[in-house]
Amino acid sequence: MRILVTGAAGFIGGNYVLFRLENYPGDTIVSLDKLTYAGNLENLASVMDDPRHQFVKGDIADSNLVEELFDAQDKRFDAVINFAAESHVDRSIDNPDIFLKTNTFGAFTLLEAVRRHGAGMFIQVSTDEVYGSLGLDDPSFTETTTIDPSSPYSASKASADFMALSYYRTYQIPVIVTRCSNNYGSYQFPEKLIPLFINNLLNDKQVPIYGSGENTRDWIHVRDHCGAINLILEKGKSGDVYNIGGQCEKKNIEIADHLIEMMGKDKSMKKFVTDRPGHDFRYSMDISKMESELGWRPAVKFEDGLKETVDWYKNNRAWLEKVTSGAYRGYYDKMYKNR
Ligand code: NAD
Ligand code: TYD
Repeated sequence: MRILVTGAAGFIGGNYVLFRLENYPGDTIVSLDKLTYAGNLENLASVMDDPRHQFVKGDIADSNLVEELFDAQDKRFDAVINFAAESHVDRSIDNPDIFLKTNTFGAFTLLEAVRRHGAGMFIQVSTDEVYGSLGLDDPSFTETTTIDPSSPYSASKASADFMALSYYRTYQIPVIVTRCSNNYGSYQFPEKLIPLFINNLLNDKQVPIYGSGENTRDWIHVRDHCGAINLILEKGKSGDVYNIGGQCEKKNIEIADHLIEMMGKDKSMKKFVTDRPGHDFRYSMDISKMESELGWRPAVKFEDGLKETVDWYKNNRAWLEKVTSGAYRGYYDKMYKNR
């Protein structure tokens, strides 16, 4: 296959490119990324000289650039997988503007290019957060749960989902929307819960737990997410939505405890801080469609995946130090200093 992967220098997009080229040696990939604070070419270092891979720096919301990129191809892409996004809820609370531009207008720009040039499939990589928040005893999200986003981040992703599905219905372009739960693994920028906690603990700093720490997320290893996308690309039904989840619900406080224990620290490293506004209480995924239609289940056990992740950050201190120097310090102070 010839695949356009957007957001390829980020956490999941980067893992996807590496995973895909390793498992599908006949494929070629064009990576498109704006290289925002979250994008890092080092994530793609092992494939930068690979003849099967081409990197293009650019904004998915720049219609001229996207048009030129599609125009320059001899053949249409077999798949366009849109990972590019502003992805952090806390930043969306602070500055929603760029979330609409990238997540909503950017997805629209790509869909327009696919409408004009064609593509075998357009996959819009979305999130469980579009469904909103669950109570403790509520049933898990299914693909038909009402869309009810809480943050500017999830609202911008929900808009992109609707736009993508509208292009399927109106223009009959092949589209699939995937909605995945919280990912963890290597190369995740340390603004998200797990890598931020690992980074703090590596530096003997307390971990900031929002509110009571009872908020619950469903965790999936990034490799399982990438595997699910490959299967969906092969066997998924155009016009459909697929929920992807790790079947592993944990309270944030449990994650803090796991990491503190794994990293040989003590309970005094926990610090409860002011809650996030509009903080979704719980996410939980019903993955029975993936199981029954595509025969997929997550394979990585949380304890193994978390250990592997901690080891990766321990063994890649240079990567971590680079991404936490400069602008990250200002970000951390702004978010956490007086919290
Ligand atoms: P990330 O923030 O690590 O990476 C995003 C990448 O997109 C970065 O490389 C960034 O440079 C690039 N980017 C940002 N704006 C761009 C633009 N306008 N044009 C081109 N590139 C741009 O995010 P992630 O965690 O890898 O998430 C990838 C996708 O998966 C997102 O769409 C996100 O909504 C979705 N998702 C993430 C999770 C999760 O737990 N991280 C869960 C479910 C779904
Ligand atoms: P996050 O990794 O930002 O993902 P999302 O909000 O998209 O699910 O946060 C995961 C959970 O961890 C969420 O309930 C907020 C909480 N959290 C903290 O308690 N402290 C932190 O420093 C961060 C970044 C998140």
